[in-house]
Amino acid sequence: MRIFLDTANIDDIRRGAAMGVVDGVTTNPSLVAAEGVEYRDRVLEICDVVDGPISAETISETADEIVEEGRRIASWHENVVVKVAMSEAGLAAISRLSAEGISTNCTLVFSANQALLATRAGATLISPFIGRIDDAGQDGMEVVRESVQIMETYHLPSQILAASVRHTRHVTEAAIAGAHIATLPPKVLFQLIHHPLTDVGIQRFLADAAKYTPV
Ligand code: G3P
Repeated sequence: MRIFLDTANIDDIRRGAAMGVVDGVTTNPSLVAAEGVEYRDRVLEICDVVDGPISAETISETADEIVEEGRRIASWHENVVVKVAMSEAGLAAISRLSAEGISTNCTLVFSANQALLATRAGATLISPFIGRIDDAGQDGMEVVRESVQIMETYHLPSQILAASVRHTRHVTEAAIAGAHIATLPPKVLFQLIHHPLTDVGIQRFLADAAKYTPV
């Protein structure tokens, strides 16, 4: 499973990229607004740090407008993936952008049937929102599992990107469910590094190493 960062914070992206574990980045209007920057400027900064798919989201509501906006966003950088929300207009736009060779990420997916429609429209990436499904009292990981199974059964090329990840257990479960990618908030990525026994173990080794001359 590839790991993306779900943020527009450039410091966190630099920190994650320095560990060599970040394969891409997903952004959305809320994440960019939280940074108080212009969307295009920040996406280009991210492209300088991470050499992988960088999702940037459209906000238009008709198919024609989404296609126009998607073309503009795709022209920013060759690694940009155009994020389009699941809807009738969104599916029409994804199929037209895909026919033009533009990579797309169908976002706000909450069921395997939506994932099936997204893949038929030609979405490169499909983003089930695990945490928000859990919030609604359903099992977000089940949507990931079913969507991956559909892609595998029919040898479909879309990749399932587990989004709305809220905690470290979601990451393990997404990997076991066969998600091709999980996009993680920086906090969750950095939490993955730690285990109480690892941290205690390091302290013990350091204490014992103080008893001899360093190499
Ligand atoms: O990748 C989608 C993500 O940004 C949504 O996360 O926590 O707002 O549901 P959340």
